[in-house]
Amino acid sequence: MREEKNKQQPRIMREEKNKQQPRHSGGKERPAEAGERGKKMITMRDENETMIAVKNVNKVFGKKGGAMTQVLNGAELEVKRGEFVSLMGASGSGKSTLLYLIGGLDRDFSGDIQICGQSIRKMSERKLSKIRLGKIGFIFQFYNLVQNLNVEDNILLPSLVAGKSRASLQKELDDILEITGLTDKRKQMPAKLSGGQQQRVAIARSIISNPEIILADEATGNLDSKSGAEIMELFRRINQEKGITILQVTHSAKCATYGTRTVVLENGKTVDTDALRVESERPASRIPMQFAFASQRS
Ligand SMILES: Nc1ncnc2c1ncn2[C@@H]1O[C@H](COP(=O)(O)OP(=O)(O)O)[C@@H](O)[C@H]1O
Ligand SMILES: [Mg+2]
Repeated sequence: MREEKNKQQPRIMREEKNKQQPRHSGGKERPAEAGERGKKMITMRDENETMIAVKNVNKVFGKKGGAMTQVLNGAELEVKRGEFVSLMGASGSGKSTLLYLIGGLDRDFSGDIQICGQSIRKMSERKLSKIRLGKIGFIFQFYNLVQNLNVEDNILLPSLVAGKSRASLQKELDDILEITGLTDKRKQMPAKLSGGQQQRVAIARSIISNPEIILADEATGNLDSKSGAEIMELFRRINQEKGITILQVTHSAKCATYGTRTVVLENGKTVDTDALRVESERPASRIPMQFAFASQRS
């Protein structure tokens, strides 16, 4: 439905729509105006849709009889369509582990994880691959670019491998190069780019397949603070303009503030900091003190 909407509406109109409608009105779809019913209802998404659901997830590394580490212990998380959630926590608290479970990269856990309402733990490998390729984009701390391909070809590579033609991707490529600020670098080789630019190529590569969800693990962990801020601005733009739901792992309190909500992993459990604020009924900052001064580490 999102693709259909993108095709039908030029970007400027989508921006207008984003401005007019808060993403989380808390309700279902806004009723259409008289005369535009039908058309509106077809093009609108269910803003209340749960994109990621983590239910009572436990994850243990190691085998019975040997050294075992329980990393996740009843973790819970719900991410709605259009949210930009920051996942924080001390080093070794299990942030990457949880992100990889959500991305279906590791299915050795107990509990349930659903992507767009579909339980992934026992899903066939084929169906899971389809979800990973079609719905999820991954961004890692290290950009994993192919060094002997230029920017454009790095961005196109996964789509070409998936069988799409270069011609069919051209318009989307131009659009994404513009969004990521790489238009004048399109023929450049990765080695000639700064870290921030290389990360932007990795982001462009992940959004050209039109994912519904981006999972980012310390995307700015290898960058200086200025480049890091640029990447966060880009995430914010992708979230707002393209409507892509983002779940990012970050050590940086500053990066976390670019998101719409922060969740902290502690003792294998998730703590929603916004929920904490409501419970205590005082105007606390969005991020607990112990993370507020955390430096940007990997
Ligand atoms: N493949 C693995 N085998 C054994 N232990 C692991 C493995 N991956 C992660 N761990 C352990 O799980 C814990 C959480 O790791 P991780 O999810 O990478 O933490 P974070 O991303 O929050 O820094 C750490 O104690 C780490 O040593
Ligand atoms: Mg990690």
